[in-house]
Amino acid sequence: MNTEKTKNNFINYKKVVSLANENWQEAEMRKISGLSVDVAGQNYLHDQYGRHFYHFCTTSYLGLDYHPTILASAISAIQETGTLRIANSKNRCKLAILDVFEQELSELFEVSCLSTLSCSSASSGILPLLASGVLTDNVSPTMVFDKFSHYSMNHLKPSCADETEVITAPHNDMNYLEDICKKHHKVAYIADGVYSMGGIADIDSIMYLKEKYGIFLYLDDSHSISALGQNGKGYVRTKMKELDDNVIIVASLAKSFGCSGGVVMFGDDAHTKFVHRYGGPSNWSQSLNVAAIGAGLASVKIHSSSELTLLQQKLQNNIRQFDAAIQTEQSGSPTAIRLIRCGESGLANKAAEYLANHGFFTSAVFFPVVPQGKAAIRVTLRADMRSEIITEFCSLISDFLLSHGIDIKPEKISSAPLLAEKI
Ligand SMILES: Cc1ncc(COP(=O)(O)O)c(C=O)c1O
Repeated sequence: MNTEKTKNNFINYKKVVSLANENWQEAEMRKISGLSVDVAGQNYLHDQYGRHFYHFCTTSYLGLDYHPTILASAISAIQETGTLRIANSKNRCKLAILDVFEQELSELFEVSCLSTLSCSSASSGILPLLASGVLTDNVSPTMVFDKFSHYSMNHLKPSCADETEVITAPHNDMNYLEDICKKHHKVAYIADGVYSMGGIADIDSIMYLKEKYGIFLYLDDSHSISALGQNGKGYVRTKMKELDDNVIIVASLAKSFGCSGGVVMFGDDAHTKFVHRYGGPSNWSQSLNVAAIGAGLASVKIHSSSELTLLQQKLQNNIRQFDAAIQTEQSGSPTAIRLIRCGESGLANKAAEYLANHGFFTSAVFFPVVPQGKAAIRVTLRADMRSEIITEFCSLISDFLLSHGIDIKPEKISSAPLLAEKI
């Protein structure tokens, strides 16, 4: 058998390591990776090199990661429950408080929800199951992954390919997707709602194709849950009035939700049962521990209150302020992620080092996180960033890049309404 033909059809770690390792070495040498920090204040950290900085690249967009009620609820849940978890698979025997949490998530998002240890573990369990056809009347769907789908889904392509045909589609290319729909009986489309490196899915076109061809949607909306939509329903859930048996939405609860774990939203109760029983690590691995559940219960309450709306508004104000100072491909988008393009990874690493030495931590992102030659400084805004801190950050990075021949000041400030106002 010719093994060369059956190897590396979807993943080639040897190649990734050979292309990325030098950049990671440099990042470590410049003290912008491998940091170990203490908390010196809200989103204000102290590292092992004695530096203090504001973290400008967290995914806790609403600042709930420091919310006193969430932290207190994590502690009281342990005290009241008397253990951290039941050491048995969730499918066989779980704590009643986990049922309560899943029930409250279901009410909040107005759809049947399961909790998972992480969003990654949800996708690890569900995607191969979806590929097998058991969620689609025993018809194995052709699995079409958007090229920029998150790693937590992409790394499952080989497992899915053991069950069905797997195709990688150019990013957000709806014509390409439609061509596949015309040629295949059943298609499942796998994508992010909001992409971790900026940009959003074309949900209206996706819904059009779903209506026309009955495609199954598996969408990861980790970057918009809590941050966008009424009661923090997120970008995708808000766009779908109801979920049917051709949709699964997954999301991390460790980002804006301010807790830990993941959530899966199902339009079909039979799917909920299947995943509960056969969903890989969501069944055989640990379930959420009581601290996470306690934190989650408090976060649900915040999501049902006016405090959430206030935090979402603060986040949008901070996004507007940033966009008024710095032009990026994401300018004008309601999502909190911005990539300041530097081109070569060396410059991105130097810029991140400069920022870290001047009070701001960001991530220099390079291949394979972004395509080669498109290295960037990744910035994520938060509701709890003070205006003067954002101003200082923007001046620092603008001046630094200008001194390297890159002008990131906006040419004209757009008065167009943020997309958030339409969600
Ligand atoms: C889109 C997306 N999905 C999933 C994850 C992973 O989430 P979790 O930590 O819950 O596994 C990330 C992590 O950054 C992400 O960006």
